[in-house]
Amino acid sequence: MSSLADFSEITLRDEALAPYCWMKLGGPAQYLIQPRTLDELIRVVQTCREVDIPIRLLGGGSNLLVRDEGVSGVVLRVCHDSFSQITIEGTRAKAGAGALLSNLMSQTVKAGLAGMETLVGIPGTVGGALIGNAGGRGGDIGQFVESVTALTQNGDLVTRAEDELSFAYRSSNLDDLILIDASFELQKDDPEEITRRMRKLWITKKATQPYSFQSAGCIFKNPRGMSAGLLVDQAGLKGTRIGNAEISDRHANFIVAHPGATSQDVLRLIDLARSKVSEQFGVDLELEIKIW
Ligand code: EPU
Repeated sequence: MSSLADFSEITLRDEALAPYCWMKLGGPAQYLIQPRTLDELIRVVQTCREVDIPIRLLGGGSNLLVRDEGVSGVVLRVCHDSFSQITIEGTRAKAGAGALLSNLMSQTVKAGLAGMETLVGIPGTVGGALIGNAGGRGGDIGQFVESVTALTQNGDLVTRAEDELSFAYRSSNLDDLILIDASFELQKDDPEEITRRMRKLWITKKATQPYSFQSAGCIFKNPRGMSAGLLVDQAGLKGTRIGNAEISDRHANFIVAHPGATSQDVLRLIDLARSKVSEQFGVDLELEIKIW
């Protein structure tokens, strides 16, 4: 029977996760495993299944808050070069799950393919973006996906396409899979036109969101037809600080971690925002970020 010890070359024990996350907060992972090949990835997943160790997937760490105590079990990071390739043929782009979304976007824009420019400014990996159907007011990644290759929790290789794929606001039916790559169908357009649209969106985002700070993007999903940021703002919470974490005074759906902040500070701010918004507006805010 195989064991995790077979993967010592690609395993970091008790590895601090804070450096892998945009918030730069949180405790260690019992095992952080970074496979180098598909074969290695399959064997890791099969072994975890055999020895009954839970797997968590770490992408770019931009939509994640790790608790101060860290996590037990395996954190899998599928980010090796072999999982980060981007190729473009005609109007189709193919990207590894570990590729940065920003790379996929800039390469498609350069190739004169329209669509991805609406995702400007969104951090993280292609895999993470797919699972959470990352996007903004201009559209989301799911609308361009043609097919996805992935592993099941048993380590079986599967392809999902067309009606097997479903994307909704900040969610997909891919969250029980370990993504390997995806193909996207885009539309030909003038690269200068696409770049112009992308710049316009980027300027708006930079003006309204606290990009230069340690944050995890929007904390809450927007309730149907409403803006979570607007609600937290109207609850009077902009600039509220607990410990060294602060509800951004630029956009109230962002929490900024100042030096010395802990995950507990952020969690307490999240609870505060939820309870004030619920009390004042009768709306229960749902988390967009993942909390481990
Ligand atoms: N607003 C305020 N105060 C605030 C924040 C917003 O009054 O503190 C108002 C704005 O003035 C605007 C409205 O609320 O009238 C909506 O704000 P915004 O245009 O910033 O959009 P949002 O709904 O807050 C969504 C996404 C963002 C995405 C932007 C732009 C969610 C939860 N948020 O924000 O996504 O970047 O649209 O496309 O869906 C993310 O998911 O991490 C994220 C940042």
